[in-house]
Amino acid sequence: MYENIDFDQIDLSGPAPEQEPERQYYFMAIARELVRRQSEKLGRPLTACTTTFGCQMNARDSEKLEGILEAVGYQKSDSEDADFVIYNTCTVRENANLKVYGRLGQLGKRKKNHPGMKIALCGCMMQEPHVVEKLKKSYPFVDLIFGTHNIFKFAEYLEEILSGENRIVEIWEDTDKIVENLPVDRKYSFKSGVNIMFGCNNFCSYCIVPYVRGRERSRKPEEILAEVKRLVADGVVEVMLLGQNVNSYGKNLEHPMTFAQLLREVAKVEGLKRIRFMTSHPKDLSDELIQVMAEEPKICRHLHLPLQSGSSRILKLMNRRYTKEQYLELVDRIRKAVPDISLTTDIIVGFPGETEEDFQETLDVVRRVRYDSAFTFQYSRRSGTPAAALENQIPHEEVQRHFDQLLAEVQQIAREVCRRDEHTVQEVLVEEINEHDPSLVSGRLSNNTLVHFPGDASMIGTLQKVYLEESKGFYYMGSLVTEEK
Ligand code: SAH
Ligand code: SF4
Ligand code: F3S
Repeated sequence: MYENIDFDQIDLSGPAPEQEPERQYYFMAIARELVRRQSEKLGRPLTACTTTFGCQMNARDSEKLEGILEAVGYQKSDSEDADFVIYNTCTVRENANLKVYGRLGQLGKRKKNHPGMKIALCGCMMQEPHVVEKLKKSYPFVDLIFGTHNIFKFAEYLEEILSGENRIVEIWEDTDKIVENLPVDRKYSFKSGVNIMFGCNNFCSYCIVPYVRGRERSRKPEEILAEVKRLVADGVVEVMLLGQNVNSYGKNLEHPMTFAQLLREVAKVEGLKRIRFMTSHPKDLSDELIQVMAEEPKICRHLHLPLQSGSSRILKLMNRRYTKEQYLELVDRIRKAVPDISLTTDIIVGFPGETEEDFQETLDVVRRVRYDSAFTFQYSRRSGTPAAALENQIPHEEVQRHFDQLLAEVQQIAREVCRRDEHTVQEVLVEEINEHDPSLVSGRLSNNTLVHFPGDASMIGTLQKVYLEESKGFYYMGSLVTEEK
């Protein structure tokens, strides 16, 4: 385990080990020395700033990047005036992409006034050859570019750019490798994401993720459980199991195992209080999973179940492999087994060929299911995906009109649904001091709804019983319930 690593004890006289993660420890030890020397020369600590775009998987990757930056001696900074700046990028929609280029332009200007500054780019955008071409040509000030499959080699690249002047660009097309036990710097002390699988095999026709994240690979259950236990020993009470499609966990393991079985094992970890997971593809959601959710109190009363469209015709074109009726039937089964569950979803508006009628089908599902919240997206054409080649791309004005209509509907329903626990006492995991009012703390219910109530910093990371006085639409105001003796 990396926590036990004493970097000063690593033998740097010989060549780098071939084995992982030892090889990366070796480069961390050298990079540490380089950072220490530079910092001595400047008479101040070196700083590093990580910016994350995209999903929870990327957020978790960034914690790993930050773990390495911390291990080699950088101080974390929120400012892009830092000595090392890295963008962990997302390319799921065009606007995620554009944001990166915009910010990168600014960063180039800063670098001119900051001798020794290093700029790195990684994440999903880097897996697209046309992006890398553009970066090489138009953004020559970027020192390091690597992709999603070789992220475990970050320490090695870091050492190389710190000891030389050359730009490094290394992208792997795919990998079957999972490197364990690299350092991680968690954002929260009391909750953490835990990868259970990488990649995606579903190829929904609009989606670029399978192309930039590669084929599905599950982590071994013993590695996952060891990580969860380590996290719990370190103060974590809530884990979020992460994968693009957690319901197909374990299929490619040497000893196959279902996601439901994994959940039962994780739930046995003593000291762990809450388990969340993300994302569940409706086509693979099993009765076994529904049963575990009903039986296991540690599993949170929340399920994110992306709908994408309510029209069976569009769902087929999207290659989602379920129909409107199957989705609704699945929701019924879940609600029957776990009546107080909160359901959330993702919906895309304006998929090629989507008609008024198709859109009405989506609204119909939204009205029937009554989601606690829904992320709504305008369809974004991603080159290389099958949907990008479809005729009948929808004009922007029409997409916008439907999008606005959907959002209004979703929000209206959410306001009604979210008050279901008003005037009851519920457990809240306190996450932070309220941003706007320091006399309040903010936390989440098992079903993920936000609650604000009077409290102090000592409560952060603890579960508290809170009376939910008033629903404000998407959150509650509450008050602490003191236990009667
Ligand atoms: N694996 C997850 C989703 C990951 S991407 C799942 O299958 O649910 C997160 C969301 O982005 C998707 O659910 C989808 O709603 C949205 N999305 C993906 N590709 C998109 C595109 N080309 N245009 C608009 N939204 C998209
Ligand atoms: Fe994309 Fe579909 Fe895979 Fe989700 S399941 S990441 S939407 S291809
Ligand atoms: Fe974006 Fe990559 Fe996640 S494309 S949504 S960061 S897997």
